Amino acid sequence: MPSHGFQPIEGGQQVIRHRVTKTLVLSVFTAILSSLQFGYNIGVINAPQKIIEQSYNESWISRSELGSPPIDPALLRTLWSLSVAIFSIGGMVSSLSVGVISQWLGRKRAMVINNIFAFLGGSLMGLSQISQSYEMMIVGRFLIGAYSGLASGLVPMYVGEIAPTHLRGALGTLHQLAIVIGILVAQVLGLDMFLGTKSRWSVLFWVTLIPAAVQSLLLPFCPESPRFLYIICEQEAQAKKSLRRITGLLDVSDDLSEMKEEKRQMDSEPKVSIFQIFRSRTYRQPILVAIILQLSQQLSGINAIFYYSTDIFSKAGVEQPIYATIGAGIVNTAFTVVSLFLVERTGRRTLHLFGLAGMIICTLLMTVAMALQDTIPSISSLSMLAIFGFVAFFEIGPGPIPWFIVAELFSQGPRPAAMAIAGCTNWTSNFIIGMFFPYVADLCGPYVFLLFAFLLLGFLIFTYFRVPETRGKSFDEIAHAFRGRNLSLLDMEVKASTELDSLGGGGADEE
Ligand SMILES: *[C@@H]1O[C@H](CO)[C@@H](O)[C@H](O)[C@H]1NC(C)=O
Repeated sequence: MPSHGFQPIEGGQQVIRHRVTKTLVLSVFTAILSSLQFGYNIGVINAPQKIIEQSYNESWISRSELGSPPIDPALLRTLWSLSVAIFSIGGMVSSLSVGVISQWLGRKRAMVINNIFAFLGGSLMGLSQISQSYEMMIVGRFLIGAYSGLASGLVPMYVGEIAPTHLRGALGTLHQLAIVIGILVAQVLGLDMFLGTKSRWSVLFWVTLIPAAVQSLLLPFCPESPRFLYIICEQEAQAKKSLRRITGLLDVSDDLSEMKEEKRQMDSEPKVSIFQIFRSRTYRQPILVAIILQLSQQLSGINAIFYYSTDIFSKAGVEQPIYATIGAGIVNTAFTVVSLFLVERTGRRTLHLFGLAGMIICTLLMTVAMALQDTIPSISSLSMLAIFGFVAFFEIGPGPIPWFIVAELFSQGPRPAAMAIAGCTNWTSNFIIGMFFPYVADLCGPYVFLLFAFLLLGFLIFTYFRVPETRGKSFDEIAHAFRGRNLSLLDMEVKASTELDSLGGGGADEE
């Protein structure tokens, strides 16, 4: 999974209860069509890999002169890996511009305009077979990646800003859920009894136009985020109108005063740029933690599974690899739901450690199963179970936790810059896996997952020694944990708060 939603911390706000209005339901539904689109495009290139590779080969043959050499298998593999991975380059570029675009156009208009990427990208990919052009496929994947990068920032932002306080957490998780459902839908449609055939695979890519069209039609009926209108544009009347539509109430003074308090908090803390984050000693430790946690999500090998599982399963001797891929998608969806409940109740650090440890065990089982596959053919069911376990543990820890922790490590001022750095790290490492996993897999054979086991072990050790527990902690307490280097101190609340007092509440740059 490239990206997961996050929720900013809500500190000491009064809970205002609203009923769930039709406008709210419509707006949230419309927004998460983007998340569905994003997930769909993560999963869509997995099952039909062989068929599309064949089509690339045919394009090559039909375009080359008679008697010229056939396509080099290495070139074919490069073209395919590039088609898979360039998605993340698009995501990387656009995720960096989420902040600027969402301020300039507003949340709603940014989502409308973003669909241009989906229409263009979807059409290019859909036309690539008829046009006998893998270049069109590659450019289309780049554009839909750019769409996804923007969507992964805009959707949590818009949903978080229109949701009433007491529903913010619950509605925020729908982004996450829509992504994994999108992956699953793509895997099912990629079956050869639906669209995963030589003659129909182009339709798989035309399908991306459906959520784009539905979203473009519905967005005009959704209100713009009242927080954008009030906090950024300072249009109180417009913000009130939007709030009235969302809440269905005439008197919105409670919500308005909540936004005033937010604006006051934001104005009281200067914005920190990406550059300043790296220069300041206060942020150096937290940003290192944020970056390594993002790496732990992507370099865990999860996208090796989501991009290439059908290939992996068939190499592991599983007879119906595409159904195993769908099994992984179902496990993924189920455990995303499980983690939604766990994450609010259990410590972030604990869950991350638990997930990483589980993933290590599964990679080891996978390695053993794949190495023994020729001697014991029935062991292929063990590799399948190990991959399911791998996906399940991912969704418990490394899937959601890195985003939670980044949002919780930084206060209002530096948070946008920190989120941008985290997002960029995430997409970059996503690209590395998408692009190079097939080569490394060829090189290492059955031992490829041993590599991920080593990386995971490194991340486990780092998390144990360097990542503080952030759940229910104030920014001061977290900053103190970084200074003290002794993370277990955080659990001894009394001791920590006494020392914090003696530091005078803690400030900036005083290491
Ligand atoms: C490309 O297609 C030709 C003809 O169908 C086939 O002989 C060749 O093995 C294919 N090349 C690759 C790399 O799959």
